[in-house]
Amino acid sequence: MSSGIRFDRVSVAYGKNTVLDALDLTVEPGEVMALLGPSGSGKTTALRAVAGFVRPASGRVFIGERDVTGLPPHQRGIGMVVQQYALFPHMRVAENVAFGMKAQKVPKSEIPGRVAEALDMTGMASYARRFPRELSGGQQQRVAIARALAIRPGVLLLDEPLSALDAQLRSGMLGELARLHRELPDVSILYVTHDQVEALTLADRIAVMDKARLKDCGTPQELYRAPRTEFTASFVGNANLLPVRVGSGAVSFGATDLKVDTGDVAQGATATLCVRPHLVGLGDGPNALSGRVAEVQWRGATHRLYVDVAGERVKADLRELRTPPGIGDEVTLHFAPEDAVLLGAGVTDG
Ligand SMILES: Nc1ncnc2c1ncn2[C@@H]1O[C@H](COP(=O)(O)OP(=O)(O)OP(=O)(O)O)[C@@H](O)[C@H]1O
Ligand SMILES: [Mg+2]
Repeated sequence: MSSGIRFDRVSVAYGKNTVLDALDLTVEPGEVMALLGPSGSGKTTALRAVAGFVRPASGRVFIGERDVTGLPPHQRGIGMVVQQYALFPHMRVAENVAFGMKAQKVPKSEIPGRVAEALDMTGMASYARRFPRELSGGQQQRVAIARALAIRPGVLLLDEPLSALDAQLRSGMLGELARLHRELPDVSILYVTHDQVEALTLADRIAVMDKARLKDCGTPQELYRAPRTEFTASFVGNANLLPVRVGSGAVSFGATDLKVDTGDVAQGATATLCVRPHLVGLGDGPNALSGRVAEVQWRGATHRLYVDVAGERVKADLRELRTPPGIGDEVTLHFAPEDAVLLGAGVTDG
């Protein structure tokens, strides 16, 4: 059974404080939508509105064709996994996984088979008789995912499911989640995170939230290659955001003219030029910028240079740099015209 999720102008308020402001968003059946945004932007609130743990002040929530706005959580057909595994400590793994099915009134005879199936999917079959305290953090989170899957939800809600895990485990679990999604192609997933790598890796589309509002929504490639707002540019991937004045087929940055596609941004307007640090090269080239090195960081695969140009600190991520410049050195940076995106003043405030 596949069913998408639709937010229809959903607002949530605590007292006078609107924490979700008229959210319009559709998650297609079988789609993974990441909700990405800084702390306090309303991501968890949006998820809880789908789960039925907060009541919208206005607007409707649909799961598939069904208006679920007034339904209690257990009638919504959703599975949910939160950051803190939230397993019952006094129950064995198998009992934890069976728990949700009892609330759903799944026939008793079906439960053991479905517990085994869910534990199998998450690679936890041999841990069924353990207690949560006998598992590592990553294993506990697998059990929490198994518990959510056991009810065979049409919709899976994941709220920072990996954030309590260390970096290495997180990247392993990210692969596991991608595999699970391939095995369950009909399940729609709403995945809350403030980690852009998770969002870029896992999501079909990313919804970017800031201050209770949806700022942007698109595929990872769209948001990364052609962000529409400064907020998106800086939140999805690293970005140099340079203040420029728009001319015809070029912009001026300080005293330098840079060739870029100015699209339909009006001549004479002030705008922001977005250039990704890994697309900036060292040495002379098209769109050359000269400045003084303020900082050099070695990051293993790359060197990150910070170069002061026309009052801005430009970031460049450079590979294969055998002899990096030193702090205070004069260097020239460059980037290709097609690697810059001009963000017009009119679209930057979303
Ligand atoms: N029960 C509550 N009562 C009052 N305010 C709340 C309540 N729950 C959340 N808020 C407020 O709503 C806003 C949005 O919270 P929410 O949990 O949705 O943020 P978030 O985007 O998930 O952040 P984080 O990344 O830190 O988890 C915050 O300002 C928070 O303080
Ligand atoms: Mg949250």
